[in-house]
Amino acid sequence: MEAVELLLPDERVSVSCWGQAWAAKPPRSTTPTGAASTATPSTTPRSAPCNPPTIDALQAAGYTWRGIAVWHKPAARPHPGRLKQECESIVWGCAGAMDPGNKPVYLPGHFTGSQPRGANRQHITQKPLDMMRELVRIVPVDGTVLDPFTGVGTTGVAALMECRHFIGIEHSAKYANIARARLTEAIAA
Ligand SMILES: C[S@@+](CC[C@H](N)C(=O)[O-])C[C@H]1O[C@@H](n2cnc3c(N)ncnc32)[C@H](O)[C@@H]1O
Repeated sequence: MEAVELLLPDERVSVSCWGQAWAAKPPRSTTPTGAASTATPSTTPRSAPCNPPTIDALQAAGYTWRGIAVWHKPAARPHPGRLKQECESIVWGCAGAMDPGNKPVYLPGHFTGSQPRGANRQHITQKPLDMMRELVRIVPVDGTVLDPFTGVGTTGVAALMECRHFIGIEHSAKYANIARARLTEAIAA
């Protein structure tokens, strides 16, 4: 794990536990330029306070917090009398200096994409593949993307399509099997 860059696209399990884990394991597992990001919903009552703990956890673990990007989900369901929950924030940071290299990428701070629908939706919080393809580009080509909350492997498929390596962790056997199949398909393509 010594040369792994971190990209955490999502976390809804327990921000506090996750934060403690980060704090307990400083970014030894990242290269000096390793980047980390995680998307958290910003409008639900449960997750409204997510961003400050996420930012704190990132910094407590020794990362430099760099900023917040926005994930806009146009197809989100409207609720009568409430604000539409069509926005999540992406907290991101890095370990050490960020070297843009000889061929720097210019990435947006605002992403638009809705979750897959119908047969393409295999996980309740599945991310849009096109958005993840853009997001993983913050990790250099041939770098390694680590997703400790892999779900059905969207981040991994995106990483492979963008010529990055991938390590995924998923504790549901059902989702891990789907992720494995999707990753195998992406490798074969
Ligand atoms: C938000 S989903 C990720 C969805 C993924 N981004 C995708 O597009 O498929 C988070 C996943 O983390 C898994 N998870 C939760 N706690 C975990 C843990 N401690 N270790 C590994 N996986 C965990 C859940 O089973 C769930 O599938």
